[in-house]
Amino acid sequence: MQIIRTIAELRPALRAKRKPVLVPTMGNLHAGHLSLVRSAREHGDLVVTSIFVNRLQFAPHEDFAAYPRTFESDCELLAASGCDIVFAPTDGEVYPEAQGYTVHPPPALADILEGQVRPGFFTGVCTVVLKLFNMVQPAAAVFGKKDYQQLLVVRSMVRQLALPIEIVAAETVRDASGLALSSRNGYLNDSHRAEAAQLHMALSKLVLAARSGRTDWQTLEREAQEFLRARGWQPDYVAMRRQSDLGEPSMGGPLVALAAARLGGTRLIDNREI
Ligand code: PAJ
Repeated sequence: MQIIRTIAELRPALRAKRKPVLVPTMGNLHAGHLSLVRSAREHGDLVVTSIFVNRLQFAPHEDFAAYPRTFESDCELLAASGCDIVFAPTDGEVYPEAQGYTVHPPPALADILEGQVRPGFFTGVCTVVLKLFNMVQPAAAVFGKKDYQQLLVVRSMVRQLALPIEIVAAETVRDASGLALSSRNGYLNDSHRAEAAQLHMALSKLVLAARSGRTDWQTLEREAQEFLRARGWQPDYVAMRRQSDLGEPSMGGPLVALAAARLGGTRLIDNREI
């Protein structure tokens, strides 16, 4: 496995490869990320995992400086998972000058849910993902359903900008309690760690209610938020939306239940398709 830090070094390493597949990450890798790497193997002939903590997608009060950076253990995990190239550019390599051109995704998709709570977040994500796509020029890229809205935003960017890249969606990897694996789980103390799977439980209840034929979404969303609040969470949102574009459920089509909530100082997100 090669470790590459510059675009200039990346170009010759990619030459003669028919189908490079990119797995963009911010590092601090866990089994969820590694499942993306394994999926990437099945979709091409060269797996490139990028590790870059993108300051553009963090608001000033968020955890950019504190975001866990574990480069050496990340590389060990990647080498054991079939990754061919780790692309870990410096901040200066990705943003050699102030980023004046940015990608603004459509508000109907990107200013709701995560984008409402984290203004500018998806502009930061789209801008860095487009830059990584241009640097690596992959035939395909793998994203996790754990970040459902991010996956839809990237898909729509690729579609609207006619990027010749196949977007592959990977299922969410969970621990035995049902908690979706996340780099931010490391911030949880023992009692919060035991509580954390209740976010998934709240979504499972919504899924069961939907499957039993209930369609009073606002009541169900409110009940789920009250359930979490009573257990010490501070929910940002619990929402039932369409899988295709996160439109209102009344618009028709398969649904997904999404939630984000803070437990202590840690913000967790999760979703369940119905
Ligand atoms: P990061 O949070 O490191 O996640 C990298 C990829 O791993 C994303 O596609 C995310 O959905 C996926 N992932 C995280 N936890 C997962 C889990 N439990 N199961 C399956 N997949 C999981 O998402 C980002 O980084 C950044 O926004 C990025 C796209 C790299 C742009 O900076």
